[in-house]
Amino acid sequence: MRSDQTTKKVASNGADSILVTGGAGFIGSNFVLDWLAADGGPVVNLDKLTYAGNPENLASVAANSKYTFVHGDICDAELVARLLREHRPRAVVHFAAESHVDRSILGPETFLRTNIDGTFTLLRAARGYYDSLAEEEEEEEEEEERKRFRFLHVSTDEVYGTLTPEAPAFHEETPYAPNSPYAASKASSDHLVRAWVHTYGLPAIITNCSNNYGPYQFPEKLIPLMIANALQGKALPVYGDGQQVRDWLYVVDHCRALRTVLERGRVGETYNVGGGNQRSNLEVVTTVCALLDELVPESKFRPHLQLVKYVTDRPGHDRRYAIDARKLERELGWRAQESFETGLRKTVEWYLANAAWVEGVTSGAYQQWVRQNYGGREAGGPGDGVEERPTIAAGEGSR
Ligand code: NAD
Ligand code: TYD
Repeated sequence: MRSDQTTKKVASNGADSILVTGGAGFIGSNFVLDWLAADGGPVVNLDKLTYAGNPENLASVAANSKYTFVHGDICDAELVARLLREHRPRAVVHFAAESHVDRSILGPETFLRTNIDGTFTLLRAARGYYDSLAEEEEEEEEEEERKRFRFLHVSTDEVYGTLTPEAPAFHEETPYAPNSPYAASKASSDHLVRAWVHTYGLPAIITNCSNNYGPYQFPEKLIPLMIANALQGKALPVYGDGQQVRDWLYVVDHCRALRTVLERGRVGETYNVGGGNQRSNLEVVTTVCALLDELVPESKFRPHLQLVKYVTDRPGHDRRYAIDARKLERELGWRAQESFETGLRKTVEWYLANAAWVEGVTSGAYQQWVRQNYGGREAGGPGDGVEERPTIAAGEGSR
């Protein structure tokens, strides 16, 4: 696989373009689509196309003259420096990462490489580019470019660790306490970004977001996995007692938050992003099943909830995440527009309308992952057909 393959070259030079990393993944592709739809200016998308990256997500903009795709690795220092030099972006929006906790437990190496080394490589190149603008500052245009430049680091609430049921939600001053290799690698990258702001004056901002859901999410994460399995009558593997709580945010709301932070966020600050939708995993699975019962009345697997199967818990499983997003709301005026119910309905409808996309990404390598992650769990893995009816403590985990 060549590392510097530019599929299409456009005139994205100039103060208006942005360099997105990991734009072929779940959040990145939603962000690129949203950005171009909002006429945000040219986008250069640097993506390695790992199992999680899919150019199909961006098929609708592939012919757009404002969109350039570059197939490459964020750890390739020369490539990153060249892209910054050639495209002179007004911002780097950094999504590229290994993002799945279960994969980080089974194989942490790539998480350290991409999430830590990759972020370091980007920061070093961004600093070089930013400093080069200072050298050219006598030109008025360059001075403007330097003032506008931002490095937006997209991170996660998992860096804060886990909460007890009564604890207040994570805020920007909550101490870092990452528990999984994924969370530790993201926490490390956040610390690097912070150091580049304080030591070198790089104008960076960090966002820490809660669990996203929506179109184009790879069916290894809870919601798309449950939809995909239920449609095929496969078991719905709930880890442990299913009472772990996550704070769900519709992906488009996250993309809007990132645009807001890019435009008005303060350099050196962290902004927490969350939807205020705390739900236990069992509540999420129950809602997904109810939507499928309604939207696929002819399904022979109804009621889909009968497919739930409790399996061995994830090692070191964080019990609860919750985000306090008041700083972003108060300072920058952002608000989530989608409720969990409306967002989840849109998501299930999207997966029903895009069965071919799901089929395309659940290839041989995906089957191997399913065997590796679920095969060893005591109670068995998906597809085993063990049926068990869950009981749900009303309201638990909600607010
Ligand atoms: P994803 O796994 O769907 O996509 C990651 C993308 O990065 C893929 O397109 C992949 O090909 C690309 N990539 C991986 N390694 C690369 C490398 N070395 N060089 C270039 N590209 C590479 O992830 P996502 O869910 O879209 O998450 C995007 C970002 O948002 C991540 O940084 C993640 O930590 C963060 N985040 C995700 C969530 C969530 O719920 N999904 C929540 C908060 C924060
Ligand atoms: P996931 O979507 O992997 O996101 P994260 O681990 O980053 O929060 O998982 C969300 C929750 O769902 C988490 O508590 C683990 C749980 N889960 C299951 O119960 N079964 C599954 O098959 C998966 C993938 C996740």
